[in-house]
Amino acid sequence: MSGQTSGLAIETAGLVKTFGETRAVDGVDLAVPAGTVYGVLGPNGAGKTTTVKMLATLLRPDGGRAQVFGHDVVREADEVRGRVSLTGQYASVDEDLTGAENLMLLGRLLGHGKAAARKRGDQLLAAFGLSEAAGKQVKQYSGGMRRRIDIAASILNTPDLLFLDEPTTGLDPRSRNQVWDIVRAVVAQGTTVLLTTQYLDEADQLASRIAVIDRGKVIAEGTKGELKASVGAGSVHLRLRDPAQRPQAEVVLRTVLDAEVKPEPDPVALTARVGAGAANGRGAAEQAARALAELARSGITVDNFSLGQPSLDEVFLALTGHDTGAQDTTGPHDGATGPHTKTIGPHDDTKEGVAA
Ligand SMILES: Nc1ncnc2c1ncn2[C@@H]1O[C@H](COP(=O)(O)OP(=O)(O)OP(=O)(O)O)[C@@H](O)[C@H]1O
Ligand SMILES: [Mg+2]
Repeated sequence: MSGQTSGLAIETAGLVKTFGETRAVDGVDLAVPAGTVYGVLGPNGAGKTTTVKMLATLLRPDGGRAQVFGHDVVREADEVRGRVSLTGQYASVDEDLTGAENLMLLGRLLGHGKAAARKRGDQLLAAFGLSEAAGKQVKQYSGGMRRRIDIAASILNTPDLLFLDEPTTGLDPRSRNQVWDIVRAVVAQGTTVLLTTQYLDEADQLASRIAVIDRGKVIAEGTKGELKASVGAGSVHLRLRDPAQRPQAEVVLRTVLDAEVKPEPDPVALTARVGAGAANGRGAAEQAARALAELARSGITVDNFSLGQPSLDEVFLALTGHDTGAQDTTGPHDGATGPHTKTIGPHDDTKEGVAA
């Protein structure tokens, strides 16, 4: 019952899941405060879905333990199931039914009377901008609409803990924003959300704390402020008119930004991390603007300039010294550069409260 009083919605210690030779989840420790959005950030195959499935009692751990609101996910699976809801990576509603029919059916299955089920369904359809599509078969929905109906289905009964497994992967920016608004509304009602994502900006928008996982291991954990302080608040990409000016531009950027500057394979392109030295208190945009002004003053012509959040690859590079190892990169990893755990910022490593 310790989790009940510790203020943690999820607490895991040394959680392991293997599939044959693959250690999909390889000793994961998590402490997710109740009432917050907790982001689990990682590339394809990192072990996000496997972790979520164990926490949602859909997969049995092979090692370690996990508690949800103080209940062990194996020994007290029924108590856990009563308090959680899962929106999977792949939409789970019935494609042949309409949006309204799906919510109606699920509402009845959850024990609501006909009128109550319809009322709740209508409320959710309206809240999720799906009233017009209510009478359409789900198989005719766009990706964004499907994601929304799937989330709606998972919060018919307000769960204490909602798992959202990559809720916006593949969605256009507008649909992503709609899903983000939904997540914020769900949390405002007191639900804890465990969100997995491949996008740092999504975790940044929604989550209070973030765990970065790679190949089954947590390689960094902290508040998003701590994460950004360790990987840089932003990343400047620029293209010059004249490749001959690139060495000079590198010097200017390095001096102004006090950051790592990387020449790209493209002979006119440069990338720099901004805000890693957050100690000087300047925002990333302000630093980038100063850099741009200094380049102009030095007579360097810039054709294209952008400031964005670090990509997942850049986060991984900063944390581990290697990229995400996603399929599009060259060749397999050599074990020598494997992940190492990095604790970002003040992180309480004590494990009190794990014991039942
Ligand atoms: N049922 C299974 N049988 C065998 N291997 C599996 C199974 N499920 C997952 N794996 C493997 O475990 C590892 C972690 O997979 P998982 O689906 O948890 O990753 P993920 O972080 O959710 O990735 P993605 O971003 O692609 O969804 C991968 O190497 C995957 O191939
Ligand atoms: Mg997954």
